[in-house]
Amino acid sequence: MKVLVCGGAGYIGSHVVRYLNTNGHEVVVFDNLSTGHREAVGMAQFVKGDILDSAALNELFANCRFDAVMHFCALSQVGESVVEPYRYYHNNVVGTLNLLQAMRAAGVRKLVFSSTAAVFGNPEHDFIDENHSTRPISPYGASKLMIERMLADAAGAYGLRSVALRYFNAAGADPSGEIGELHEPETHLIPNVLLAALGKDVELKVFGNDYPTRDGTCVRDYIHVNDLASAHLKAMHFMNEREGFHVFNLGNGRGFTVLEVINAARYVTGENINFKYAQRRTGDPAVLVASGDKARMLMEWTPQVTDITDIIETAWRWHRRIKH
Ligand code: UFG
Repeated sequence: MKVLVCGGAGYIGSHVVRYLNTNGHEVVVFDNLSTGHREAVGMAQFVKGDILDSAALNELFANCRFDAVMHFCALSQVGESVVEPYRYYHNNVVGTLNLLQAMRAAGVRKLVFSSTAAVFGNPEHDFIDENHSTRPISPYGASKLMIERMLADAAGAYGLRSVALRYFNAAGADPSGEIGELHEPETHLIPNVLLAALGKDVELKVFGNDYPTRDGTCVRDYIHVNDLASAHLKAMHFMNEREGFHVFNLGNGRGFTVLEVINAARYVTGENINFKYAQRRTGDPAVLVASGDKARMLMEWTPQVTDITDIIETAWRWHRRIKH
């Protein structure tokens, strides 16, 4: 299949591009490189452009006939979205609307969309399935939920087939060590822990040790980025069989505390990773763990790298390579 990957130069997008290429699909990447990296795209065809630029999107669809689109372009920092909500709604919601309109004009009727566990807000219970209420507590989460609603409406009105994949905590890197997570600034736990292991100028902080969890730190469901990649290909196949709009939660169904992650990273790196306890970070729920049953059953998706030590080991290969 010929697939347009919007945001294919970013962390998750670049792993999906590599996975699609490896599985024999033809990929065109469209990315404004605001947070992504040109070198992460590898040998895939690259077009620099912005989803806020409708003319550029129309030109892209005029030049190529795509079977499906995967859409990773987004501003994605929860804290920043609270401070700059208009920027988030403009980029994420308006940008996606531009993309959907360009797809409709070009007759492209399949989309895999990057959604997030942030659509749930504060969880009502520990295992979050697709029927859990959606009450986002940040403009970032709200922007993703608005897009899910647009996709549901587009299914009814225009026959768009789409799958929204709600990622829990994407982590790890391709085992080759050639691509990985590289944000500036870095806010995510595992990269920050590994930067501390490398002795870089990061003072590792653990945000809160008074949560109602087994060691007082937050519990998250870390899912390997290549397992997310395989879910995207499964979603594309799923849309061949099924009409309409569908959502899937993507996680391992197992949670690890911040301290468990640090201990696993100590084991992997052999380094004594120092940290300090700091205030809770605004908007962090105590526990976020997915029930991935629906994706396993309906898409026959099976995550391969589920052990936190193995996940961190792949991330470590990448960090050692780029930061030394
Ligand atoms: N944490 C630290 N120190 C750090 C970084 C993180 O203690 O330096 C803690 C956080 O407080 C949290 C856990 O580690 O408890 C994981 O934090 P991340 O920033 O790695 O990930 P989040 O759980 O905040 O973010 C994820 C996704 C977002 C999504 C969000 C929904 O990356 O896209 O879940 O809550 F919006």
